Amino acid sequence: MIKWIFGNWKMFGSNRHVQHFSHFAAKERAHIPSHVHMGIAPPALYIPTLQNDLQQLGILLGSQNCSAHPEEGSFTGQISAQMLKDAQVDFVIIGHSECRTAGETENLIAQKVKTALEAQLNVILCVGETLDQLIAGQRDDILTHQITKGLSGGKVHLKDQQIFLAYEPVWAIGTGRIPEVDALKETLAFCRALLNTLNRNDTPLLYGGSVTPDNIRHIFEYTHADGVLVGKASLQPEDFFQLARNCP
Ligand code: PGA
Repeated sequence: MIKWIFGNWKMFGSNRHVQHFSHFAAKERAHIPSHVHMGIAPPALYIPTLQNDLQQLGILLGSQNCSAHPEEGSFTGQISAQMLKDAQVDFVIIGHSECRTAGETENLIAQKVKTALEAQLNVILCVGETLDQLIAGQRDDILTHQITKGLSGGKVHLKDQQIFLAYEPVWAIGTGRIPEVDALKETLAFCRALLNTLNRNDTPLLYGGSVTPDNIRHIFEYTHADGVLVGKASLQPEDFFQLARNCP
C-alpha cells in the first residue's frame, strides 16, 4: 500500500537550505522504500530551483497555494494554477488552516480547488477543527461543511490529477500535540465515510499536525491514514527522510 509523505515548508528556507536539502536528498533517496511516495511544497520562489533535482529523484513538487482566478489578469501578488503547471509543479495545497485564518473563505477554497484541478494539478485539500470547536463537540459538523464545500468546486473530470484530503486539527499544527489514537481513528473513519457518500472513495486520506519521525509509525499502525502532511519535520532533510524510513 502506497504511503504518502508531503512536506510543507511554509515561509521557511533560503538558497543555502535548498542546496543542502537537494544534496541530502540525492544521497538518501535510494534508501527510501518503494511504497513511500514523497512530495515537498517549498515557498514559491524556490520551486524553479528545486524542480530539476526533485524530478530526477522522483519526489513530487508542490505549491502552498494558488490563485482562484483561472485566467491571467491584474491580480497583484498571485500565482495562477496554470503558471504552477508551467513550472512543472505536481500538486497544490489548498485550504491550509493558516490560509483560512488569514481570511480564505469556503467559497474561495472551493474555487481554488476547481481552478487547480482544471489546470491538471493534484490538490491537497486541508480541513480541520479548532480547539474551541473540538471542545464544543462541533468537530464532525465542521469537517462535513469544509469537505462538502471544498469538494463542491472539484466536480471536474479527473484524468491524471488526484485529490488528497488532509485532516489537520488546527490545535495539533505546530503544537507538538496529536489526537489520541482512538479519536484519530474515529475522525479519519468519519472523513472516509463522508468521502464515500460524495463518490470520492479513491481519495487518499492524510493526517497532518505535529507529525515527527517518532510518531509516524504509530499514526500508520493504528489508523487507516494513507499518508501525512508535515510542516516542521519536513524542513530538515534529515528529519524528512527519517519520516520516510520509519514508514511501515
Ligand atoms: P506541523 O505542521 O507538522 O509543523 O504541525 C503541519 C501543517 O501545517 O501542515
